[in-house]
Amino acid sequence: MNNEKNIEKLLNGVRTLAIVCNQFGDTGKGKLIDFFGEWPDGIARGTGGANAGHTIQRGEKKYVFHLVPSGILYDNYGKINIIGSGTALDPRVVCEELNALEKEKLSYNNLYIALNARLVLPQHLVLDRVRESASKQGRIGTTGRGIGPVYADYYARVGLFVNDMLNTDVFVRKLRRNIKEKVMILGQYDPSVVQAVMRHEHLGRFWSAGDLFDLDAIVETYRGYGKRLAHMIEDTDSLLQEMRNRGRKILLEGTQGNLLGIDTGTYPYVTSADCSVRGLAQGVGLRERDIDLSLGIVKAFYMTRVGEGPFPTEIGGEQSAEWCADSTINKKSEAELYPLVDVNDPDPFHQGIGIRKAGNEYGATTGRPRRTGWLDLPFLRYSIRHTGPNVALTKLDVLDKCQEIKICTEYVYRGPDYRWGKRVFRKGDILPVAIPDCNLMAYCHPLYESFYGWQQSIRHAKTYGELPQKLRELIGFVRYRALVDIKIVSVGPDREQTIVVD
Ligand code: IMP
Ligand code: MG
Repeated sequence: MNNEKNIEKLLNGVRTLAIVCNQFGDTGKGKLIDFFGEWPDGIARGTGGANAGHTIQRGEKKYVFHLVPSGILYDNYGKINIIGSGTALDPRVVCEELNALEKEKLSYNNLYIALNARLVLPQHLVLDRVRESASKQGRIGTTGRGIGPVYADYYARVGLFVNDMLNTDVFVRKLRRNIKEKVMILGQYDPSVVQAVMRHEHLGRFWSAGDLFDLDAIVETYRGYGKRLAHMIEDTDSLLQEMRNRGRKILLEGTQGNLLGIDTGTYPYVTSADCSVRGLAQGVGLRERDIDLSLGIVKAFYMTRVGEGPFPTEIGGEQSAEWCADSTINKKSEAELYPLVDVNDPDPFHQGIGIRKAGNEYGATTGRPRRTGWLDLPFLRYSIRHTGPNVALTKLDVLDKCQEIKICTEYVYRGPDYRWGKRVFRKGDILPVAIPDCNLMAYCHPLYESFYGWQQSIRHAKTYGELPQKLRELIGFVRYRALVDIKIVSVGPDREQTIVVD
């Protein structure tokens, strides 16, 4: 079959393949990892934590993972799955996912967890959530999984590692010191906010009226996690380095996206891990040059963002941003309030909802509605500087019914004079490439080119040639205007609905 030949061609000579995202995450990474799942000997994650959510559709069944690599479905084929050293590991979430796998009778015999992954503790979740709920200003819109505080502790050299769960005395000593500082920081916040956060869900059992945190409860709980996970905890950096040296095939699974990466994204509206290819390699103990091929995913012809931060092409603008930031809105309430809106609604705010419904764009981790916008080429041109030109276009089928498709080709700057190093941005300046400086991005307005939609179902298409002419023109436009090399197009949620381009 054509597709198989193309896969062979694409992977010819490749030993380490990395899959990352050129946007804000939620672009279909899980599906692509699954698509390539048969190929590698090992699949590894190296960044992020339980903030991520990977969705995989297998026929009628849908799997969502947060920490466990998406390749886990290949575990019983003997493929190694690794949660690498660069990740923020919440053992509670891992144990929950293992329970879920057990329930589905799926194996995880070949799952390894890096002994030097950053350990997420209750105080990280508390601090993350307290910061987010303390004031509206400075809100990032985090997933509340403790990601920021965990990475901050790591860089401040006060963090704990997964391995510390295996040595109670070390754990207690480090925990004491870590908690002491957290209690001081939390003391600056309104006690009622702190208490409300602490008494929530699974954090409740670590709450102590006097000392804020019940140290013994944390120690006991983590000792339990350590026991359960002990046989998986490994020096995975060395494991992967050896695999690489022995010429074994490795698939690296990125998390979030370049535009959310701490080093490449729209700081401070980012997550706290480096989501680029570089960060991914580092997070599994490899060098960037060990990666033979990296594919950067681009959702098209719309994109999404969760949480705060610049999003020039957002459909419905401010109104959409505010709506999606409202914690009382979820998939169900939105469907009830807007049963009739669709992807062609003349009102932009409604059209944004229509696209969200069509693409099922609700957080896999939080259930939040994702902000929707048109494909943004300035962002893409910026992002591929970090990822390279090889791109996979995903979710193309979502806009099958769309009559008019807009692509943002440039921004026009409409703010006050802004100095950016030696350069001064003035009203009316055109930016072909995004600059991830939020002071600047706040005043960047999109310039669009409009296209007729293809208006037919593409899910059955097996080859690139079978795609409607109008869609191929749009893909050609992106290729030509962003200088990307489109290797894969995804035309539906199932792994079969993936076309490897000639
Ligand atoms: P954190 O990673 O929970 O600290 O959240 C920081 C920002 O990254 C917020 O805007 C989140 O919505 C966003 N974010 C984190 N993980 C994901 C993800 O997997 N998909 C999309 N957005 C994410
Ligand atoms: Mg996701």
